[in-house]
Amino acid sequence: MHHDTIAVIDFGGQYAHLIANKVRRQGVLAEIRQPEDPIDAFSPYKGIIISGSPSMSSQDEDAGYTKEIFDLDIPILGFCFGHQEIAKHYGGTVIAGGRQWGRADLHLTGEHRIFAGLDSVEQVFMSHYDSVETIGPDFEEYGYTPEIEGSPEHRNAAIGSDALKRYGFQYHAEVDDTVNGDKMIGNFVLDICDCTPSWDMMAFLKEEKKRVAAQVGAESVFLLASGGVDSTVAAVLIGEALGPERVHLLHIDNGMMRKNESQNVIKMFEQLGLGSHLHFVDASDTFLSALEGAVEPEKKREIIGNTFIDVFNAEAKRLNIESHLLGQGTIYPDTIETGGTKRADTIKTHHNRVAVIEELIQQGKVVEPLADLYKVEVRELGEHLGIPREMLVRHPFPGPGLGVRALCSDGVPDEEGFADALVQLDLIGQDFGLHVLPLPIRSVGVKADLRAYEHPALLTGDAPWDKIIDTVSLITTEVPGFNRCIWNLGESRPTSAKPVKATMTKQRLDLLREADHIVMDGLARHGLYEEIWQCPTVLVPVSFDEEDGELIVIRPIRSERAMTATPIKLPDGLVRELRGAILALNGVSSLALDVTSKPPGTIEWE
Ligand code: XMP
Repeated sequence: MHHDTIAVIDFGGQYAHLIANKVRRQGVLAEIRQPEDPIDAFSPYKGIIISGSPSMSSQDEDAGYTKEIFDLDIPILGFCFGHQEIAKHYGGTVIAGGRQWGRADLHLTGEHRIFAGLDSVEQVFMSHYDSVETIGPDFEEYGYTPEIEGSPEHRNAAIGSDALKRYGFQYHAEVDDTVNGDKMIGNFVLDICDCTPSWDMMAFLKEEKKRVAAQVGAESVFLLASGGVDSTVAAVLIGEALGPERVHLLHIDNGMMRKNESQNVIKMFEQLGLGSHLHFVDASDTFLSALEGAVEPEKKREIIGNTFIDVFNAEAKRLNIESHLLGQGTIYPDTIETGGTKRADTIKTHHNRVAVIEELIQQGKVVEPLADLYKVEVRELGEHLGIPREMLVRHPFPGPGLGVRALCSDGVPDEEGFADALVQLDLIGQDFGLHVLPLPIRSVGVKADLRAYEHPALLTGDAPWDKIIDTVSLITTEVPGFNRCIWNLGESRPTSAKPVKATMTKQRLDLLREADHIVMDGLARHGLYEEIWQCPTVLVPVSFDEEDGELIVIRPIRSERAMTATPIKLPDGLVRELRGAILALNGVSSLALDVTSKPPGTIEWE
C-alpha cells in the first residue's frame, strides 16, 4: 500500500525518533533518514523534518550534510538544531548563548496555519545552548518566549517563510511537555505538507509479525523475560508470529529484583499461556560477585549486561537450544540513550545494548519487535494483543533493576567546582527561602542532548511546590556542574555531607528492596499507583553531619515516553508514612524527594 510519507533527518538529538513517532500518531508514515543520504533519497517525501542534535550550529558543527534538501520544493520544518540550521541557511545568525531547558511559554506574534487551533500562549519544551539571533529577509518571527524570573526574553522561538515553505521551532514540539506539539506537527504534516493519513498500530502489528517470522525463518527465539511490560509484550508478539512452542523464555533473578518479583513473574507468564517454555535461574550470586568493587555507573552497566549474556548462554547450552535467536523487549529509548543512532551521545548504556549484543545484532541474531516504539505505544500494542490491563499498567522497571538505583562510591568526596558554586547556590537559595547543600557524589543526567554526570543539590525548607521547581530550574541552568535537586523530607537541616564508601552488596540491595517495597505499597494504598508513571527509590551513599546511615531518594514522576519527565509532589499524609517507615530502616538516616525534571536529570540515578 502506498503511504504519504515524511522524512525525519536524524542529527542524533535525543528526540529524533520521537518526531517520527509523533508523525505516525497523525496516521502518516515517517521514516528516519541520515543527514548525508543522497539528495535523491529525499525527493519522494511529502515533507522533511530536521531533528535536534548534540552538535552546535553556532560552531558550524556537523555542517557536512546534504544541503541540497533546501533546493527541493518540499516543506521543511526544523526543531532546535534543525531550526537553527534553517535560519542560518536563509541568511539568519545563530549564536552560542540563550540556553534554556525545561518548560517555557511561547507567545505567538500573530496567526499562522502551523499554529491553527492553538492559543496565543502555548507551553513548550526547551533544551538548547545555541539560539537564533537574527532571521533572514524572507522569514517572519511567529513566536518568542518572554522574560521570566532569572531568565531573559528569547526572540525567534518560532519562525517561518510561507514563500519558501520553511519553518523552525527552537523548542521541541515532539515531546509531550510541549502540550500542543501534536497539533503543531499535525498542522505541518496534514495541512502544509498535505499528507493523507493511512498508518495505525494494527498495521504496525501485522507488518511486524510478518517481519519477525521472516527474520527467524525455521529457528526459534530464546527471550530474556524480566516480567516488565516490554519483554512481556515482545514475548506475546513473537509467540503470535511463530507459535508459542517456538518461543523459549528465560527469567533470571539477578539479585537486583524487587521484593517477591520472580515468583510473581512466573505466575504471570503461566497466566499468559507461555509458562510451558519458561525457564528460571537464580543467578544472584553470579551477578553480585561480578559486581564486587565496581563503583562507576557505566562499568556497573557493562558488568550487568555481560553477566546477563553469560547466564543466558550457559542456560541455552544446558537446554541444548544454542542455535536460537536472542529475543529482547528493547524499546526505542534504550537505543537512543546508548548512543545507538549514528550521532546520538551516549547518555547511558542500556543493558540490552552492551557490546556482545551489538555484535549479535550485526549478525542478524537478535529479534526486537518493539525497537521502534515508546512505552505508551508498547502498552497500546499490548492491548491489541489481548494482554490483561494489570500487566500493562505496571511501572517500568529497568533491566539492570535495583543495580541502577543503588549508587556506589569509593568514599572520596567529589567536590569539583564546589568553591565557585557555593556562592551561587546560596544566593539562589536565599531568593527562594531554601537552604541549598551540594552533595559530594554524582548522578547521570542529560543536558541539551549530551550526557551530564554531575552533582545533586539538597534543598531544605518549606517553600511552595512551584517555587521549589523554579529553584531547581535556576540551579540546573545557571550553576555549572549541577544536574539534579532533591528536597529534604527529614526534619533536620543538614549543613555538611560526606560520601559513604559503598559497593553493590546483598545487604545494601536488601535495604533498598525493603525501602522500594514501602514506597510501592504506599503509592498503592493512596490510590496513586496508576497516576504516577514510575517511582524509583534510590539508595545514595551520602550521610549528613554526624550521621552514619545512607540517604534514600524517592523519584515519583509523570511521563509518557520516558524521554522527558516531570517530578510529582506526594501528598503530606503519604510523606509522613514514608518518613516513619523508611527512616526506621537500619542503615538509612535521611530521606529526600527528587524534584528534577528530565532533562536535566534522567529518571534513574545510576
Ligand atoms: P532514564 O534513567 O534514562 O530512563 O531517564 C528512561 C527509562 O528507561 C528505563 N531504563 C532502562 N530500561 N534497561 C531497561 O530496560 C536499562 O538499562 C534501563 N535504564 C533505564 C528507566 O527505568 C526509565 O523508565
